[in-house]
Amino acid sequence: MDADERTKREAIIAACLEMNRSGLNQGTSGNISVRHGEGLLITPTAIAYEKLAPEDIVFLAMDGTATGRHRPSSEWRFHRDILAARPEAQAVVHAHPLACTTLAILNREIPAIHYMIAAAGGPTIRVAPYAIYGSEELSHHAVAALDGRLACLLEHHGMIAIGPSLARTLWTAVEVETLARQYLGCLQLGEVRILSEAQIAAVIEKFSGYGLQV
Ligand code: 13P
Repeated sequence: MDADERTKREAIIAACLEMNRSGLNQGTSGNISVRHGEGLLITPTAIAYEKLAPEDIVFLAMDGTATGRHRPSSEWRFHRDILAARPEAQAVVHAHPLACTTLAILNREIPAIHYMIAAAGGPTIRVAPYAIYGSEELSHHAVAALDGRLACLLEHHGMIAIGPSLARTLWTAVEVETLARQYLGCLQLGEVRILSEAQIAAVIEKFSGYGLQV
């Protein structure tokens, strides 16, 4: 393992711990991957994040062959397929955050209730239809729901965020969970006014000039 690979493995473990510390995830419900060489580095399945050492992270080739002392996350298919479908993405974060998952259970996509939805790439955060975890079908739905976006919800399951770096992806995941909490709050009080596609396009444009430093 060279220094670059060790740094990526350590960053994945730090992101897992941060994901649980910040309340974005609980237990070992989530999983994280980072593009590496001709494949990806991914968290192992069902091992407490506190116990993870860099050697526990699994390398997965794009053909699905795993190298390491553990099995890869049960969600390796969508991590692999998303990184294959989205060459610009360097990291994938999957978690079961409370507000996102509540909306996903209700099959409610998140509309443009706040301009920060632009951080997720567009005027909506879609819900990928339910399919059993780890399946090719779920992976197919996730890739489709992420088309042109940096985040999606998974019906009766959770959320996925992707991005140009692991730090940025974790930041996006926290922003999406914040939007979900805001939307749940709004739904309790009644009608919600939605920003227009043009208003969100203007924010996306402004973000690109501003260059969010995350
Ligand atoms: P892993 O522990 O296999 O990563 O699975 C947890 C999970 O999120 C299933 O959706």
